[in-house]
Amino acid sequence: MPEAMLELKNVVVRYGGIEAVRGISINVSQGEFLTLIGGNGAGKSTTLRTISGVKKLAEGEIYFEGERIDALPSHEIVEMGLSQVPEGRHIFPRMSVRENLSMGAFSRKGGKALSEDFDRVFELFAVLKEREKQMGGTLSGGEQQMLAVGRALMSHPRLLMLDEPSMGLAPLFVEKIFDLLRKVHEQGTTILLVEQNAQVALQIADRGYVLETGEIVLEDDADKLLTNDQVRKAYLGEG
Ligand SMILES: Nc1ncnc2c1ncn2[C@@H]1O[C@H](COP(=O)(O)OP(=O)(O)OP(=O)(O)O)[C@@H](O)[C@H]1O
Ligand SMILES: [Mg+2]
Repeated sequence: MPEAMLELKNVVVRYGGIEAVRGISINVSQGEFLTLIGGNGAGKSTTLRTISGVKKLAEGEIYFEGERIDALPSHEIVEMGLSQVPEGRHIFPRMSVRENLSMGAFSRKGGKALSEDFDRVFELFAVLKEREKQMGGTLSGGEQQMLAVGRALMSHPRLLMLDEPSMGLAPLFVEKIFDLLRKVHEQGTTILLVEQNAQVALQIADRGYVLETGEIVLEDDADKLLTNDQVRKAYLGEG
């Protein structure tokens, strides 16, 4: 069996005495579009933050391309090719669009390579090119989300993780963001998408995991989860 690109083995994460993630195992294969769905407080953001090294795990192991990463600082994990678009975007409001994007690039990289990275992001997100000099904080919510995705792409991730990119966006913008993610995926980036919006997430993903109170309760192909009774009742507002 080929080795997984990202592998979580029995990962436990605690905040003080509270166990937010209770021994989960997840595999993401190279080239996959994977989604992790679940309701409020299920532990989705905690899981992503733990993978990206922002939060340390209490038990278990995490491997990226065969290397153990759960003890590494987050900047080293980014340098290995794993980037995260955090929940709530966290762009820099008083910096221009261009400055925000450059924060996502490797600091040591300059000149031609950097301008190629800008070109790639501006090609995907024409709206950011138009607003290159505008302050991040004055962009609309949907534009800020595009900026957050663009910033993550500046680091050339082989695996891109996103935490609820659809949150707070009108349906038209959700569609735009998801079209862009599809394009990024087609261009060769593996994707791990966290969403409360199970409908759109399962429509775009290849495979999904369902997280409930810190535990994986279901794992299947996305189209099978879309028709699964348990999922339909709990996450698709049916039954
Ligand atoms: N910094 C923190 N300190 C204490 N408890 C926390 C902290 N962050 C998260 N938790 C708790 O851990 C659990 C999981 O939270 P998490 O943010 O991972 O959920 P989530 O699935 O991302 O939810 P949502 O869909 O609402 O974003 C929750 O019970 C939450 O209250
Ligand atoms: Mg969350």
